[in-house]
Amino acid sequence: MELPPRPTLFDFHGVSMTKYFTENWDNVQAFEARPDDILIATYPKAGTTWVSHILDLLYFGSTNSDRQTSVPLHERVPFLEINIPSLPAGKDLADQLPTTPRLIKTHLPVQFVPKSFWEQHCRVVYVARNAKDSAVSYFHFGRMNRIQPEPGDWPSFLHNFMEGKMVFGSWYDHVNGWWEKKQTYSKIHFMFYEDLIKNTGAEIEQLCTFLGLSPSVEEKERVRAGVTFESMKQNKMTNFSTVKIMNQDVSPFMRKGKVGDWKNHFTVSQNEQFDDDYNRKMRNPALYFYTD
Ligand code: A3P
Repeated sequence: MELPPRPTLFDFHGVSMTKYFTENWDNVQAFEARPDDILIATYPKAGTTWVSHILDLLYFGSTNSDRQTSVPLHERVPFLEINIPSLPAGKDLADQLPTTPRLIKTHLPVQFVPKSFWEQHCRVVYVARNAKDSAVSYFHFGRMNRIQPEPGDWPSFLHNFMEGKMVFGSWYDHVNGWWEKKQTYSKIHFMFYEDLIKNTGAEIEQLCTFLGLSPSVEEKERVRAGVTFESMKQNKMTNFSTVKIMNQDVSPFMRKGKVGDWKNHFTVSQNEQFDDDYNRKMRNPALYFYTD
């Protein structure tokens, strides 16, 4: 496969995007969701892969082992809006999913989600991660992933992050937008990466309650053990080692998996500027993130 060129950002209905997520726009918008579809929505780097794997194991982990050993996670849980030359479009993969429910991933800000998901009252799992660790993780992802724009150096990347000049736009708008949606649409389960790190088992319990699942104690334990950072890093079906557009010698997809790695990247002055700007943009005290 010929590697696609790195894209550039442009303004798309008020959100920074690249062609790899906009060129199939009309088809994506026309996606026909079914009532039992489950949408996994995140700003990039919030733990999308982690939660996708948890859901996949909860639904299909005990019934079909081939799925776990020979189908990469990104095929089991297609990325709805992705459209890269010479690979199947995410929308088509989603259409072709044979499973019930269908698990579908998106990074779209809430206002861009195809309307059929709302019309069909689909369940949505939104995962949020604190802004500083999201920025760091996104920076390293940009270095290793050819379908991201050139990330530049860390100071300029951080500046662009604060300005919302990232693929899928502003972290602040994304998280606030989805949080607001949750106030009027009851079928959103809003999760935090930091809580998953702190107590994976309890978060799996809450997910099961939201999804109406009641796995046995043994099944839950199997899921928990299958989704640790180490086991997902070793697992070729979840570590993206089969994906050519990612150069894992530059930075592995399963990079650190920690809360607080931002402290190894932010200078004291970057941190002060970031906090000032953050406090202006994130005014809702109910939406609180742990950063240590
Ligand atoms: P880091 O770059 O900080 O290590 P996404 O799937 O949304 O792209 O998010 C990727 C981030 O989630 C990466 O963060 C990755 O290491 C982390 N991650 C993935 N699986 C994880 C797991 N099982 N436990 C902890 N972190 C995980």
